[in-house]
Amino acid sequence: MPTALLQAHSLWKSYDGHLQVLRGIELAVDRGDGTLVWGRNGSGKTTLLNLLGCLDLPDSGSILLDGQDITTLSSSGRARVRLNQIGFIFQEHNLLEELTVRQNILLPMRLSRSSDAEERVDWLLERFGLEDLAERRPREISVGESQKVAVARALANRPRLLLADEPTASLDEESARDLLQLLEELRMEGRAILLASHDSLAMDLSWRKLGLLEGRLKPL
Ligand SMILES: Nc1ncnc2c1ncn2[C@@H]1O[C@H](COP(=O)(O)OP(=O)(O)OP(=O)(O)O)[C@@H](O)[C@H]1O
Ligand SMILES: [Mg+2]
Repeated sequence: MPTALLQAHSLWKSYDGHLQVLRGIELAVDRGDGTLVWGRNGSGKTTLLNLLGCLDLPDSGSILLDGQDITTLSSSGRARVRLNQIGFIFQEHNLLEELTVRQNILLPMRLSRSSDAEERVDWLLERFGLEDLAERRPREISVGESQKVAVARALANRPRLLLADEPTASLDEESARDLLQLLEELRMEGRAILLASHDSLAMDLSWRKLGLLEGRLKPL
């Protein structure tokens, strides 16, 4: 049986040693899967995505990405996985203010010493209709445009897995619909996407839907 792209097993995570946020997460994500993780404020969505995205470590449990347990890697090993295999879209776009749109998208490719960085940044700018904004800084573009730049940046190194943490939270309804449509297009191209949201628009996606409740994931 081929292994899933991502497999999380018995993930537990607490903060300050007492607040148990995740209590035995089981999750498998295949290539091309669209998965929505639905949960109220404080249910642990960001905590879960941070673990899956190599931004934090669980107290116990395993996270296999393509069969490799990323929780056992050194911090530099995890940084490499994060850079090359995972695209992360944050609630707030997290773009670097001192860099232009073009430079923001280019940065992950520079860090990974990608050989086709210039061609790829041109392609991504065109793909997302950002060519005219390429030389602007984040404060000179709209919030909706910033999120598109964040998606382009997340795709820079052709990640196998895209993690999106409430990416529509600061968007108006039309921009939110646009962004969700964009994620759906990316999924149809074969990417695995895990979207954490409590935006009711996300419920319209024909994706697998999991609820995060009391630290566990359950089908909705
Ligand atoms: N670094 C931290 N230190 C201590 N407690 C934390 C930390 N990060 C999150 N928590 C707590 O863990 C719980 C889950 O937080 P988390 O941010 O994962 O929830 P969430 O589902 O993403 O919420 P939201 O919808 O508001 O983004 C909350 O009770 C929060 O206060
Ligand atoms: Mg959150």
